[in-house]
Parts: sequence; structure tokens; C-alpha cells
Amino acid sequence: ILMLFAFGVLLHENLADAQDENLAEVKNIPEASFHNYENVNLPEEHIPYFFHNNPHVAAACARDSRCRYKVSILLFKYLKTIKSCWGYEKSCKPEFRFGYPVCDYVETGCNIESAKQIFWKQADFGYAKERMDEMRTYCKPTAMGDSLLECSYHLQHCRARNLYIDLRTPKRNHDRFKEDFLRNPLQSWFAELQTYTALSFRPIEDGQCDLVIEKPTYFMKLDAGVNMYHHFCDFVNLYISQHINNSFSTDVNIVMWDTSSYGYGDLFSETWKAFTDYEIIHLKTYDFKRVCFREAVFSLLPRMRYGLFYNTPLISGCHGTGLFRAFSQHVLHRLNITQEGPKDGKIRVTILARSTDYRKILNQDELVKALKTVSLFQVRVVDFKYKELEFTEQLKITHNSDIFIGMHGAGLTHLLFLPDWAAVFELYNCEDERCYLDLARLRGVHYVTWQRKDKVFPQDQGHHPTLGKHPKFTNYSFDVEEFMRLVLLAADHISQHSKWPFMRKEHDEF
Ligand SMILES: *[C@@H]1O[C@H](CO)[C@@H](O)[C@H](O)[C@H]1NC(C)=O
Ligand SMILES: *[C@@H]1O[C@H](CO)[C@@H](O)[C@H](O)[C@H]1NC(C)=O
Ligand SMILES: *[C@@H]1O[C@H](CO)[C@@H](O)[C@H](O)[C@H]1NC(C)=O
Repeated sequence: ILMLFAFGVLLHENLADAQDENLAEVKNIPEASFHNYENVNLPEEHIPYFFHNNPHVAAACARDSRCRYKVSILLFKYLKTIKSCWGYEKSCKPEFRFGYPVCDYVETGCNIESAKQIFWKQADFGYAKERMDEMRTYCKPTAMGDSLLECSYHLQHCRARNLYIDLRTPKRNHDRFKEDFLRNPLQSWFAELQTYTALSFRPIEDGQCDLVIEKPTYFMKLDAGVNMYHHFCDFVNLYISQHINNSFSTDVNIVMWDTSSYGYGDLFSETWKAFTDYEIIHLKTYDFKRVCFREAVFSLLPRMRYGLFYNTPLISGCHGTGLFRAFSQHVLHRLNITQEGPKDGKIRVTILARSTDYRKILNQDELVKALKTVSLFQVRVVDFKYKELEFTEQLKITHNSDIFIGMHGAGLTHLLFLPDWAAVFELYNCEDERCYLDLARLRGVHYVTWQRKDKVFPQDQGHHPTLGKHPKFTNYSFDVEEFMRLVLLAADHISQHSKWPFMRKEHDEF
């Protein structure tokens, strides 16, 4: 206990030092405890935030001529950017936050400042802060080598040390997750952790483990890997979990907690490379063994109530979270996807075509022809079929689009990877008004959708397989003039955006 306690004090002091920017005072820490800063691998913009939370890494780097961030650290100190913080840190001053939402209008009975605060807690780094504040210890170590379990409310996120799992008699069936009558299994780790108990032995030391996993491990229960909207709820929650644990290393295992013996269909599997250097491990890999994990995190889940970002109720009028911008940058950086333009002030317009049997744009050719009459536009039509175009290639296109146009559908989740100045045009929302509007608000890109009902023409009433007529199950054609009006409005918005590289004050072209 004493050792742990002393170490705790030391860490605490280090953080305090960082706040005072007395990085030099941290130099007495033994070399062995230093992080390997060469593996930091974060977007340039995130580096000062990382160093703020890892002052011992910053101190080590500042003294090491081989550290490629050495000059940056001296510069950060000079510019005081080492005060930069994501927003959830106890020491974080509002003026140094990574970002803060903007509210254009507020619901009645609310002022702008409190609306921003609410949105920040619902969907920005404030969300991570609330989960961190909720953490409660369920199993407290009393000696070195003991286990630890701490979780946020409703067991939505947990961290464990020296965790022993007995999988000697696995009961595999057709269900991916253990049944939970109280809630959807993708809302909590309750079903998995309700049987967690104390042991009368120390599994690792006492040789009770058939397998000891030394590598830090993330447990995840995954949503549909064939649907970009749902699958990115998995990735966003993993990213938030990494913030909560303050660790972004890719030298980690990701174990997919699955009680079936099915494989997992994943059309976006390249994205895992942003989080781990290894293949995803199915839980069944450990069947018939007693497995011990030195360090484990149970990741936040994709369908939590008031979780992110599936069906999240969001306060109206607000947009632009630092969290989603950071997520986007993090994934793009780790997948090495770069911004190649825009060139000569041209606006890159991408139309996402669909190859399904419904929600096709019937007069797509006509719309494309109209777009091409505007010399300012560089027009491109894409069909993101995973078999023909790798996901990273798709991301490259999206990230290099300024206006992204598509029908309602999971493909619009690509908007997460648009540049900050971009606009997304959900050509027709098929009466599902909130889904991509809210996702665009989270990401902070401008959102446009079809407004005039008399200028959109469905092919028929639509045929849902079981529910009868349904606006999502038919094709549409669009009035060309109205289409162009909306695209030009989006273009106007972009050219006024403070981050648009060719920002003009006058909007003479439109
Ligand atoms: C979580 O953070 C702890 C403390 O820094 C670290 O030891 C552990 O490896 C991290 N867990 C994962 C899964 O990255
Ligand atoms: C990243 O992509 C650029 C081109 O976009 C390429 O030149 C570079 O080698 C890539 N880097 C890595 C580490 O793959
Ligand atoms: C939508 O268009 C596709 C291709 O043109 C066609 O196969 C499908 O039957 C159409 N759907 C409806 C509901 O008419």
C-alpha cells in the first residue's frame, strides 16, 4: 500500500508541476518510468494536449536530443501552449480548452452560455469528464499485485487490473451477447460484470492462469460492422475511452466480447489501424482457458442511453464539438490521410451515388450536368462500394471534398471526415430529420437538406419489407433549379468560413 501511495503522490506532484510549467523539476524520475515518446503518433495539433496530461513524457523529451518533439516542447513552453487541455482535466482553464461549442440560438428558458455548457456535457469533452467524475471503485487493491475494478455509472466504462476470467467451460450460442433483460447489451457491461467476485487467491502470482495477457487490453462489444453509422459509434466510444484512460498507444489488444462463435463482418476494418497494431481478437480465442489480463479497459458502448452518438438527444441550436473534430483528426492522422487542396479556390463537390434498390437519385446525370456548368466547382461522382474501393481510399476522397452530397443513408457518416470548412448536403432526409443533421452538428460542419416538398419527386410511396409504405424505400428525382440553389448556398457558406483557405469577405461569385 505504501508504495502505491507514494507513487500516487509523485504523479500528483508531476501534474502540479506541469501546470506551473516547471518541467525541469520533474527530472528526478527514473529513466525507466518514461513513456516511449517516439510512439506518440498523434496529429501535430494534439501534441501539446498530450504533453499537458503526460508531463513526465514531456520532461523526458525536452532532455533528449533524439526526441522529435523537443523543439516543439520548448516552443510550447514559450508560447504557453502546454497549458492546452482537452477540457476534462481538473486543471483545465476554459481559455486553454481544445474547443467549445457554438450556439446560434437557444430553446426558450435557456441562455447561450448555459446552452453551450449543456451541449458540451452531452457531446463534447464534457461527456468524458462526466464519465471520469462518476468512476467508482468496486474492487480496491490492498497490496501490490491485487486486482482493481473501477467503473462509471451503470457500468458503462470500467478499468481493471489483474483481471481473471475463467473460460474453461464456455457456453457459446447464437447470440452475440449475453442476454440482459433490463437493457440492450450494447448499453452496459452489467451482464458481463454482474458475476464479478473477489478471489481467495492471487491468480497471476499463484500460477492459476493458463494464459497471462501482459499487453493492455480493450474489451469491446461491437455494433453492426456493415453499417458505417453504427460501426463508427464503436470507434468514437473507443476513442473517448482512450481519453478517459489517458492512453493512445496502438501497442494494445482489442478483444471483441462476443458469446457466439460467429465471425464479425466488418466493412470498415482498416479503421482499427488507428487504434491497434494487431488483429482484433475474438473472445472465443481464449475458450477453455483461465485468462488473466494485467491491464484492461471495458470500452464505452455504442448504444448507451444518452451515449454517443446513436440517437443522442442534443440541445437545439448548438454545433461544433472538439471531441468529434479530435476524433476525425486522430483517425485521419493514423491512417495517413492528408488534405491535398483545395486548389485555386475551386470547390470540390462530391456526389455519393447509391447502388442499392432504393433511395437512388433518378435524375443524377441531370444534377451533375448542372453542377458542371459552374466553373468554380470540381465535380466528382463516387459509389463507395467496399469491394471496389478500399475504405481508406474512400476516406481520402471524403477528406478532400468541400461539399459532400448524398441521400439519407449510413454513407453520410463520411461527413465525420470532411474538412472543418466543409458542408454536407443530405439531398433528402426521407423524413428522418435528426440523424445526419445531428451528426453534422457534432462534427461541426455545415448541414443543408432539401426543404421544398413540392420540388422533390418520389418514384412511388415506397415499400418497406414489413411496414408498408415508407419514404426510405423508394427512389427520388429532384428539381434541378432548386438543387442548384441549395448547392450554391452551401458554396457561399464555405467561402465565408474562417478556415477556408481562400476566405473572401465579398461574395461576388454567387
Ligand atoms: C490505462 O491506463 C493505465 C494507466 O496509465 C495504463 O497502465 C493502462 O495500460 C491503460 N490501459 C489500456 C487498455 O490502455
Ligand atoms: C503517407 O501518405 C503520403 C502520400 O499521401 C506518402 O507520401 C507517405 O509515404 C505516407 N506515409 C506513410 C507513413 O505511410
Ligand atoms: C429504384 O431504382 C432501382 C434502379 O433503377 C430499381 O431497381 C428499383 O426497383 C427502384 N425502386 C423502386 C422502389 O422503384
